Amino acid sequence: MLLQAPASALRHGEIVAFPTETVYGLGANALIETAVQQIFALKGRPQDNPLIVHLADKEKLDQLVKNIPPEFYRLYEDFCPGPLTFVLEKTDLIPDQVSAGLNTVAVRFPDQKICQLLLRLADVPVVAPSANISGRPSATRASHVLDDFKDRIPFIIDDGATELGVESTVIDLTGSMPRILRPGVITADEIRAVSGIEVLSYKDGLEEGDLKRPASPGLKYRHYAPDARVIQVCSKDGKSLEAAVLSELDQLSDQKAGLFINEKSWDKLRLQTVIAEREIIKYLFAAENPDEAAAHELYAALRALDAAGVDVILAEAIPGAEAYMNRLDKACASENMEKEEVKKILFVCTGNTCRSPMAAALFNSYAEEKQQASKIKWKALSAGLHTMDGLAASQSAVSVLCESGIDISGHSSVQLTEELLAEADIVATMTRSQRDILRGFLPALESKIKTLSEWADERGRESAGDVPDPYAQPEAVYRETRNHLQALIESLWQQINSQPGD
Ligand code: TXA
Ligand code: MG
Repeated sequence: MLLQAPASALRHGEIVAFPTETVYGLGANALIETAVQQIFALKGRPQDNPLIVHLADKEKLDQLVKNIPPEFYRLYEDFCPGPLTFVLEKTDLIPDQVSAGLNTVAVRFPDQKICQLLLRLADVPVVAPSANISGRPSATRASHVLDDFKDRIPFIIDDGATELGVESTVIDLTGSMPRILRPGVITADEIRAVSGIEVLSYKDGLEEGDLKRPASPGLKYRHYAPDARVIQVCSKDGKSLEAAVLSELDQLSDQKAGLFINEKSWDKLRLQTVIAEREIIKYLFAAENPDEAAAHELYAALRALDAAGVDVILAEAIPGAEAYMNRLDKACASENMEKEEVKKILFVCTGNTCRSPMAAALFNSYAEEKQQASKIKWKALSAGLHTMDGLAASQSAVSVLCESGIDISGHSSVQLTEELLAEADIVATMTRSQRDILRGFLPALESKIKTLSEWADERGRESAGDVPDPYAQPEAVYRETRNHLQALIESLWQQINSQPGD
C-alpha cells in the first residue's frame, strides 16, 4: 500500500504534504514538538498563529479537547467529514506550540479519500497548515507545494487539484454563541438552515467589533498574496465587467497585465482590438457557478500569473461569494494599505556558511515575532567577504539553529558585492577586521558599516568585541555562537528600533 511509508513517516515525526478537500496541507504529528516546530520553520510562520489538528473521525477526540458543547455533535453529524474546523477547549495533551499558547485548539475532519486513509494509517492527530510559505497563495495542486518547498520535505502526496480551493470554515464553539472566525464554503446561513443552530457570521463579528473573544490569530496577517499587485474588477453602476477591465487596462498601459475572469466575459473581451494588440496573460474560470469555479481556481491563478511575470493582476470580484471574496480581499490587502517601509540589514562574515547565515536567520525569526505592530519592517540578508556562491551552511550551524526551530538547510552562500552593500541600510560584520576591510573598500559607506557588537552596544563603542568563527569546531561551540548572536541581535533590535529621544 503506497500510503504506508508517508503514514509511518508522519507518525514518527517527519513532514508529509497531503491533499484535503480544501487545499493541500503540510502535515506533522501534533504530539511531537520538534515536528510541529519544523512546520513553523518551513513555512516561516509567526509563532503566535495556531495550527489546526486533523483527525479521521471523532473517535479519539476526547483525548484532545474537553467540555465539548452539544452544538459540536449536531454540526459533526451534519457536516463532517467536511470543510469545517471547530475551535474547542484543549486538554494538556496538545502541545502549547500547536495552540500558540491559547487554551483552545482547532480540530477538523477532512473529507478527502487519500487524506482520510493517511490519517487512519498514521493513527495520530496531525497538524496541517496550508502547504505554502506564509503569506503566499495557498497550495491547491501538489506542484504548488513543490514550488514552495522543493526538496525540503520528504513526502508530497499528489492527488490532483483539490475539490474546493479555499480553506475550511473556522467556527469557534467556546463562547456563548458559535461564531465563524474564518469564512469558508460552509456559511453561517447554511449552518442555520441545516443544523438549526444560531451562529454569528464572520461579518457579524466584525461589525460588532467583538474583541472579547479571541478571533483567529491568523486573520491579522497579510495572506494569499502573489508578488504582482492585485486589483479587483467588477460590473457596477451599469458598467459591464468587460468595460471595467478595459478602463483599468487603459490606466495600466505600461504594465504587463494578467486577467482572472470568467470565460464568457473573456469571449467578449478578446474581440476588442486593445486586447488583441497587448500582451495579456489570462487565467479563466467557468462562467457557470462562478462562485465555486473562481474559488476553485483562485490560488492556482495567482501563482500561475506570478510565474508568467505579470506586474498586475485584474481579478473579477464576485459579490456574495463570501469565502472567495475574503481571500481576494487579502490578496489585494497591500494595495489598500499604506506601503510598508522595509529596511535591510546585511550580516557579513568570511565564508557565509556559519556566522552570517546564522545571524540573518536568527534576526529574521526575532523580527517576525517582534515587528507585527511596527510600521518599519526589517529584513536580514547575509554575505561572505571571501566565498563562492552556492555553498550550503555548515552542518553544525544547521543543527544548532534547528534546535531553535529555525531551518537554514536551504541556505546557499553569497559573495559580497558592492550592490549588496549599497542596498543595505545597515551592515553588521562579525569582526573588527572585517569592518575595516569593508570601510577601506567603500569609505563613503563608512557610517553604516559596524561590527554586530557595536550595533548592539547602547553607546556604539568601537571596541565592543568580535564574534569568533566557530568553523570546524565541535557543535557545542556553534551553540555558544548561536547564543552569543541571539543576545547581540536582541540588543541590536533595541538600538535600531528605538526612536531618537526614547
Ligand atoms: O482547509 C484548511 O483548514 C487547511 C487544510 C490544510 O486543512 N488548513 C489551513 O490551516 O488553512 P492554516 O494553518 O493555514 O489556517 C488555520 C487558521 C488560522 O487562521 C488560525 O489562526 C486559525 O485557523 N486557528 C487555529 N487554531 C485556532 C484557535 N485555537 N483559535 C482561533 N483560531 C485558530
Ligand atoms: Mg494558511
